[in-house]
Amino acid sequence: MKLWDKGGQLDAAIERFTVGDDPQLDLELLPYDCAGSRAHARGLHRIGLLTDDELAALEQELAAIAADAEAGRIVIPPDLEDGHTYIEDRLTRVVGEAGKKIHAGRSRNDQVLTALRLLQRDRLAGLRTAVDGLREALAGLDRRAGAVPLPGFTHTRKAMPSSVGLWAQAWRDALADDLELLAGLERLLDRSPLGTGAGYGVPLPFDRAFTAAEMGFGGVQENPIHAQLTRGKYELAIVQWLTQVMLDINRLATDAIWFSLPEFGWFRLPDRFCTGSSLMPQKQNPDVLELARAALHVVTGCQQRIQGIVGNQISGYHRDLQWTKQPLLEALRLTRDTLAVMTAVVDGLIIDEARCRAAMTDELYATHRACELVRQGVPFREAYRQVAASLARPAGPAG
Ligand code: ARG
Repeated sequence: MKLWDKGGQLDAAIERFTVGDDPQLDLELLPYDCAGSRAHARGLHRIGLLTDDELAALEQELAAIAADAEAGRIVIPPDLEDGHTYIEDRLTRVVGEAGKKIHAGRSRNDQVLTALRLLQRDRLAGLRTAVDGLREALAGLDRRAGAVPLPGFTHTRKAMPSSVGLWAQAWRDALADDLELLAGLERLLDRSPLGTGAGYGVPLPFDRAFTAAEMGFGGVQENPIHAQLTRGKYELAIVQWLTQVMLDINRLATDAIWFSLPEFGWFRLPDRFCTGSSLMPQKQNPDVLELARAALHVVTGCQQRIQGIVGNQISGYHRDLQWTKQPLLEALRLTRDTLAVMTAVVDGLIIDEARCRAAMTDELYATHRACELVRQGVPFREAYRQVAASLARPAGPAG
């Protein structure tokens, strides 16, 4: 039975459409929904609306549901609509009367907000570790090959000398920026929306600070309308952050594809990272780097979907918001997977020192020569022209 069932009959096609992918998507949310539900049950117990025994029984079954969800043992029947309904239905079947009491003073609106926020905190903690892992792999590359010179480019043309170390450190610094941005996000997500009900508070004397602390939040979100407005807004902020990380990966991957082009040969991917062609026997392709590069655009697509969905609504909950769940989960998963793969690639990257050194052709040092003349007292523009004149230039139109 649906939570809102009042005896009427819902059209089957409308039901399928409104349920959408929730039975599938909510499987990922279930452990967090159980954690939120446990905190809510403790809050009800605290104000005398659940007995000790009822609370203990509810907690026991919530733990069982969470364990089943983690182990992939749960199927949410579409007629139960979503994970929130699955939880109440199962609690009522297993625990009895107390199951019917747990939804006192909450709405699925603050329930889903709470579960999502717990999931988001958890996923972002995992991503922080994953970003640290990629930064560590880059540090390892710097340690083993940092001194090897590399041409530096502007306009896809050789510019000035660079090095493997300078290159690796650049991505480390970019990812450190991302971690600073993440800290702001973590602060936003550190406040509990539980107890804001459908978006206008609840006429029961809940101790919101207590339930917040039970879930490990640093505080509560006071204004219930604002709490509802964070649905979608925070998803957008998170996925915008993911695009920052994925942008770094996109450009790192692009460099690695070009630097490992056999005609350059500065980097090589170990064979175990390369994929072949169905037709051309000789091919060893960097598909992993191409997919990692393109993953940015998949995440950007998720961002645009969320951004489009959350706009143009008056304040308060709207079912539109259900559509933000899938792109959020997809973007989080893809970023996690891409970070893991890029960490392995950087760890395994082979630097061909001889090919790198051979690429350090004379023109890369032109600016250095001009600066040397400046040091000797020549005005820069004169030094620039002297060096330009000394460089052998191929015949052709000036430009
Ligand atoms: N699946 C819904 C969502 O993601 C759960 C909340 C339903 N709330 C409601 N008032 N119909 O938004």
